[in-house]
Amino acid sequence: MAIRDILVVPDPVLKQVSTPVEVVDDALRALMDDMLETMYAAPGIGLAAIQIGVPKQVIVMDLARPEEPPQPQYFVNPEILWASEDTAPYEEGCLSVPDIYDEVERPARVKLKYLNYQGQEVVEDAEGLYAVCIQHEMDHLKGVLFIDYLSRLKRDRAVAKVKKQVRAA
Ligand code: NI
Repeated sequence: MAIRDILVVPDPVLKQVSTPVEVVDDALRALMDDMLETMYAAPGIGLAAIQIGVPKQVIVMDLARPEEPPQPQYFVNPEILWASEDTAPYEEGCLSVPDIYDEVERPARVKLKYLNYQGQEVVEDAEGLYAVCIQHEMDHLKGVLFIDYLSRLKRDRAVAKVKKQVRAA
């Protein structure tokens, strides 16, 4: 396993649309292992492959609380089968937009379909933080960032702040 570099805004690669995975094999599992290690090191609770520059429909996530044992989750070619009409706000952040947090409103519940680490198809309902996180990560696969939901002013300000941090580092 290896820790990879996480791309940050305004890197144009983050705007790329990711393509479906054809087969869940050992090479893909190695990518998912690297993604998980990279996410834990950051630290973060979700990471899409495009955030390390790989335009494939792959997401890793771990929503365990600090006192709980790790609960890694892997999503290959995820699809939203259904989304609730009722929405919920959540203060989101993103490893590609470090130290910026703002409220985004999304469907409160979704039904998902994806392939897991073994390549088996899973259909699952998500709500709460799980629903927020999977929708945020699936946006990455379409080249969409949470700051894209904010006003132009807030978005420009966020990008400028990240640029400044990167220069200072
Ligand atoms: Ni993100």
